[in-house]
This record gives sequence, C-alpha cells and structure tokens, in this order.
Amino acid sequence: MGMKSAVIRPYVPSDSAAVKMLHTAAFPTPAEATLVEQLHLGGHVPVSLVAEQDHKIIGHVVFSRLHVEVDGRFVSALALAPVSVDPRAQNLGVGASLIKAGHAKAQAEGWEVAIVLGEPNYYNRFGYDSGLVEHLDSPYAGEYLMGLEFVHGALAGHNGAMVYAPPFNNLG
Ligand SMILES: CC(C)(COP(=O)(O)OP(=O)(O)OC[C@H]1O[C@@H](n2cnc3c(N)ncnc32)[C@H](O)[C@@H]1OP(=O)(O)O)[C@@H](O)C(=O)NCCC(=O)NCCS
Repeated sequence: MGMKSAVIRPYVPSDSAAVKMLHTAAFPTPAEATLVEQLHLGGHVPVSLVAEQDHKIIGHVVFSRLHVEVDGRFVSALALAPVSVDPRAQNLGVGASLIKAGHAKAQAEGWEVAIVLGEPNYYNRFGYDSGLVEHLDSPYAGEYLMGLEFVHGALAGHNGAMVYAPPFNNLG
C-alpha cells in the first residue's frame, strides 16, 4: 500500500461485493461479512463508510441502530461493529480515520451515543469508556463493552438495557 491517504466516503449498495471481500479477509471467519450484508439489507445501518485508495476499498465501518434505554428513557444509539481494514493496509491509521468520520457523521445526524464491544486498548483512544455503560443490562457487559457520548450525560442513570439489531443474533 502506498502512503497516499485514503478517501472516506459513504457506502453505496454497489460496494457490497468489495465490502464482503474486505470483511472476509480481515476476520477469521465469514461471519462478519454476512452480518454486514444482513445489516445493510435490513436497513439497520444509519452510518456506513468506506475507505478508498486508488479506486479500491481498503476499509469499512458500520454503525447500526441499537436499542438503548436508561431509567425508562429512550437513548438514540448506534453500535460500532464491525470495522475492518485490509490486512495489507492495517496500522496506517485507516481504521482510526473511518471511526472518527463515523463519529462526526453520527453526531451531525443527531445520534446521542455510540457503543462498541472490543479491545479497550484500541477504543479508549476514541473516547470509549466502559464506565458509561456499566449500568446497561447486556449479555456483553464487562470491560470490553464501552460507550461514547456525543451528547454529554445521554447515558447517565441507574438501570438500563441495550439490544442489538436482529442480525447480530445470527453471529456465532
Ligand atoms: C482493528 C482494525 C479495524 C484497526 O484498523 P487499523 O487501520 O489497522 O488501525 P489504526 O491504524 O487506526 O490503529 C493502529 C493501532 O490499533 C491497534 N490495533 C489494531 N488491531 C487491534 C486489535 N484487534 N486490538 C487492539 N489494538 C489493535 C494497533 O496495535 C495500533 O496501535 P498503536 O497505535 O498503539 O500502535 C484493523 O486492524 C482490522 O481490520 N482488524 C481485523 C478486524 C477486527 O478485528 N476488527 C475490529 C473488531 S470489530
């Protein structure tokens, strides 16, 4: 891969084959590629961005609708998952560019929070904090489940719950 920086742009349906290949290459199994396909087809994806370099898709991030409520209050939330970068282009900042662009778009469109399940060492740098979601009931609760508030205090409260879009139930 060259050093020329990638262009970040919205996903369009004609990207689907290239995006499927990308996730298949980035993950050990095709589960994430299938998930991404189902999320798009089901209309669960308000924010979906690709990174393109020399007319090739080298990265993709999905933010899908997530049901979140805290103390009976609805919180407009997105789940960051999955994000993939072509193995030949990893550790060059492409993932970070996709995630930051996704946050900017989500915030501009009025979403209040993003939730991610992943490596704290990676996601903490974007501001994700497990403390913000520790009161949300979820099978994924723990240090790997983290929240980011675009609206300060959006997750504040005592008891809440979160439910991922249905295609996540098909993940192994
Ligand atoms: C995770 C991923 C999207 C990051 O994208 P990237 O463009 O390679 O990453 P960036 O260049 O933005 O950041 C590089 C940093 O991320 C770290 N990193 C990469 N993958 C990581 C992982 N799985 N866990 C923890 N840290 C990770 C690198 O060590 C590096 O850390 P440093 O900045 O402290 O040196 C990419 O590595 C990837 O596609 N991995 C395979 C798929 C995956 O695991 N996706 C995430 C789960 S949904």
